[in-house]
Amino acid sequence: MSTGNNPTEKTLAQLGVDSPEQVKSLFEEVRERFDAQATGRRDAHEWNILRISWLGRKSGAIAQINENWLKPSPIELKRVVGESLNHFKEHVEVVLGNGLAASVADNQTSVATKDRIDLSLPGVIRPTGTHHLIRQVFQEIEDIFFSIGFSVVEGPEIETPYYNFEALNIPEHHPVRDDMDTFYLDLPQGAPGPLLLRTHTSPVQIHTMEKRQPPVRVIVPGKVYRRDNPDATHSFMFHQIEGLAVDSDITFCDFTGTIDYFVKQFFGEGVRTRFRPSYFPFTEPSVEFDASCIFCGGSGIAKTGGTCGKCKGAGWIELFGAGMVDPAVYGFVNYDPKKVSGFAFGIGIDRLAMLKYGIDDIQVFFQNDVRFLRQFP
Ligand code: FA5
Repeated sequence: MSTGNNPTEKTLAQLGVDSPEQVKSLFEEVRERFDAQATGRRDAHEWNILRISWLGRKSGAIAQINENWLKPSPIELKRVVGESLNHFKEHVEVVLGNGLAASVADNQTSVATKDRIDLSLPGVIRPTGTHHLIRQVFQEIEDIFFSIGFSVVEGPEIETPYYNFEALNIPEHHPVRDDMDTFYLDLPQGAPGPLLLRTHTSPVQIHTMEKRQPPVRVIVPGKVYRRDNPDATHSFMFHQIEGLAVDSDITFCDFTGTIDYFVKQFFGEGVRTRFRPSYFPFTEPSVEFDASCIFCGGSGIAKTGGTCGKCKGAGWIELFGAGMVDPAVYGFVNYDPKKVSGFAFGIGIDRLAMLKYGIDDIQVFFQNDVRFLRQFP
């Protein structure tokens, strides 16, 4: 109750009240004040504040009436003041109790409305994702090589120059490094380095041979990085599968037979293929493996006329490099080059997927456009 001009802070004598009628009309006045304050909707906290101002033990209005009106009242008014005070107190308790109960009920209704579940509404259908086409192609290739006794190993994407180059017989300043110049990591001062993002999956050949003795038959799927400018067949991050087979009697025929088996399984009979001589410091002899361009049918001329933009008029698309493991590499992994021989290959997965699924731009693999992704559920 507000204190400005507040009759409960004064005694009956100070208020000039000296008859039972005046006592009754004084209580009526105070009751009107209370009723005016207790109308309207309020929350439980506001009801509590109102309760304290009227029923509070020390400074509540009822306590003040008790102190200022009842206790010092003359004997002839005591009864009427006491009775009026009891009635008024009862009224205040009932009104405050009802108000608080209504506000709690209101609150429960609004919580219930908010949390209500309408079972007649259709459910939320969450779309199920699928493997990206690159992941699917990895799986296809892995299955083919599993069927002829290869197993999968993986290696780090961050490499030392030793594993990415030197142990693969690519010494510092060798011109082949120019073709594969890559991203070097900015390392903190004093950190051991240098480190680079691997340019091919071939370093995992070395990791594998360091850990295992022949016979070795592994494939290595993974991401690789090069400072290549993006175009329809180049990306600065792409995917390779390395293959490595080393044993005591592996020949070039085993190599061509394995590749031939893989290509037939993967592409079927439709696509023409060819080997052509190439050079990799870690294989000898080395070959490039090409497939006929599916976009121009291998003619080199685009269907709309002019040079085919996909194979740049060659009629062939390069798929991967390969060859017999150079004996110099065995020296880095403590294999005896007189006792072992083997072959290795490094397949560009993105280009392989493009060829098989008729995709004319490598960039769509990395744009995450669901219209593209949904075509390969
Ligand atoms: C290599 O990376 C060798 N490590 C492959 C190898 C392994 C040779 C084992 C011998 C023995 P090359 O640089 O040619 O080779 O790359 C292999 C394949 O990766 C290419 O044939 C091509 O299909 C793919 N490729 C190369 N650069 C890119 C690029 N920027 N974007 C997409 N695919 C690429």
